Amino acid sequence: MPDVRQDVTDFLVIGSGVAGLRAAIELSNYGGVTVITKDVPNESSTEYAQGGIAVALSDEDEVGIHYEDTLKAGDGLCREEAVRVLVEEGPERIMELISWGAEFDREGTRLAFGLEAAHSRKRILHAGGDSTGKELERVLINKVKAIPSIKRLPFTLAAELIVLDGVCLGALTVRERRPASLLARATVLATGGAGQVYSITTNPQVSTGDGMARSYRAGAALEDMEFVQFHPTSLFLPAAPHFLLTEALRGEGGRLINIKHERFMNRYHNEMELAPRDVVSRAILTEIERTGSNYVFLDLRHLGEDFVKRRFPRVYSTCLTYGLDITREPIPVCPAAHYIMGGVKTDIDGRTGIKGLFAAGETACTGVHGANRLASNSLLEGLVYGRRAGRAAGEEAKSPLPSVPEKKAMPPGSIPAHDEIRGDLRRLMWQNVGIIRSETTLLQAKKRIEEWRYITEKSFLARREIELKNMIQVAGLITEAALLRKNSVGAHFRLDYPGKGEGWQEHAVLMKDGGRAHP
Ligand code: FAD
Ligand code: SIN
Repeated sequence: MPDVRQDVTDFLVIGSGVAGLRAAIELSNYGGVTVITKDVPNESSTEYAQGGIAVALSDEDEVGIHYEDTLKAGDGLCREEAVRVLVEEGPERIMELISWGAEFDREGTRLAFGLEAAHSRKRILHAGGDSTGKELERVLINKVKAIPSIKRLPFTLAAELIVLDGVCLGALTVRERRPASLLARATVLATGGAGQVYSITTNPQVSTGDGMARSYRAGAALEDMEFVQFHPTSLFLPAAPHFLLTEALRGEGGRLINIKHERFMNRYHNEMELAPRDVVSRAILTEIERTGSNYVFLDLRHLGEDFVKRRFPRVYSTCLTYGLDITREPIPVCPAAHYIMGGVKTDIDGRTGIKGLFAAGETACTGVHGANRLASNSLLEGLVYGRRAGRAAGEEAKSPLPSVPEKKAMPPGSIPAHDEIRGDLRRLMWQNVGIIRSETTLLQAKKRIEEWRYITEKSFLARREIELKNMIQVAGLITEAALLRKNSVGAHFRLDYPGKGEGWQEHAVLMKDGGRAHP
């Protein structure tokens, strides 16, 4: 077998969503940067973000109120220091983005702020009505393109991290099924979330939890993996994907009604449609079961055709492509896996437990979201913590790279019927480790995932197989953490332990070779 090609860069960034791009911009102050991404440059959750970006910039708002709202949504499990950093640095990051060309929607000359669940003020900036993430990607990619010391490698997948003597020295990458070692003085992981482990998800195909799985295999600690946020409203149409119906639709007055056309949220929470996401998702599940249906409706008809078309052009036109005019008909919706609060455990500068390895964005767990993320806080997190991780990585990676022994290419493995296993895994996670869990469902899932564990020990060169390996690993970690948490907090709801109970304030930390308790 030939040797694996070796390339060298000062800094490696894995992922080109908001967190990776912001980290790369910062790192360019310290040396050459290579940004790799496994698909086209903008394919990411960031690109599809609709509702907007939360920031305390309006005249009626204050950083302290944003802080309190974030803590409240996190249900007692946020790391307060991390939240403080988010809300305090947020305004500066947004003004910087505007200076780089971001065009947020305005009312006259003033920035327009929207409302979403659990925010006590209107503080959600949006762009193009409901295309905020697209605008962020546009601006950040243009900024990165304008910096000559940043090299971009699309369709390049990081398969494993290279860790020698406890130090991360880059990643083993695969491009067109050809492996290469990409060595770096510091590596920033920004690979996003893991929604694809669920059969019903708002996340794009790239969100397969690669960064979390790879870091775990390399010895990093993963924290809070049981906390998966299910968005209450994704499109439910037989021939359509689970396209997100932004919470801003409810923020602007959209109503939930069941298939009998009864408004129902008054039975579940006094905030009605703007109750916390986990409450709305469980209420919808209950209504679905009660009415023997698969969906409920989100009704916008009373908001007026002109307003809906102007404020939500992307939602309007997307639904229309599936034959649904949302100004005239209620939208069939069901909850979908949307965001993972847990991830690679970091400090507030993105440092993981492995020297030279930093993480930011959805793949990381700074503790900023606690048990439940406040809507529209994650784009802000990507900007604030992407920058911080980039700065810390740049500051700390002073030493030159040690020499790394060349590797022989491994004969690639293959997984017969891998698409079938992928489908089975995703359905299993939805049914057994979804919105409502219990020891019985979790143990069943654990047993089934164990049967696929052998896949996580093999090496592959095909993207779908590498992703499946990572999805199995992450599914196992979510299940393990959900079993450990014998209480219900935030987005984690156990039918057999419906209250908070004892020990609820501890965080589950999972590490290869042992550490798997509430420390
Ligand atoms: P991502 O934006 O997902 O980027 C991850 C990058 O890593 C991608 O470029 C991907 O290709 C790459 N990658 C992954 N694995 C590998 C690998 N092995 N090798 C190389 N590259 C890899 N949040 C808000 O705050 N406001 C919103 O309005 C909002 N709306 C949302 C709407 C939708 C439909 C979704 C799915 C999410 C939404 N969120 C929203 C959440 C938010 O978009 C994400 O949490 C955030 O964009 C994550 O940014 P990120 O940079 O961490 O990851
Ligand atoms: C939405 O637009 O509802 C998504 C916002 C978010 O997930 O933060």
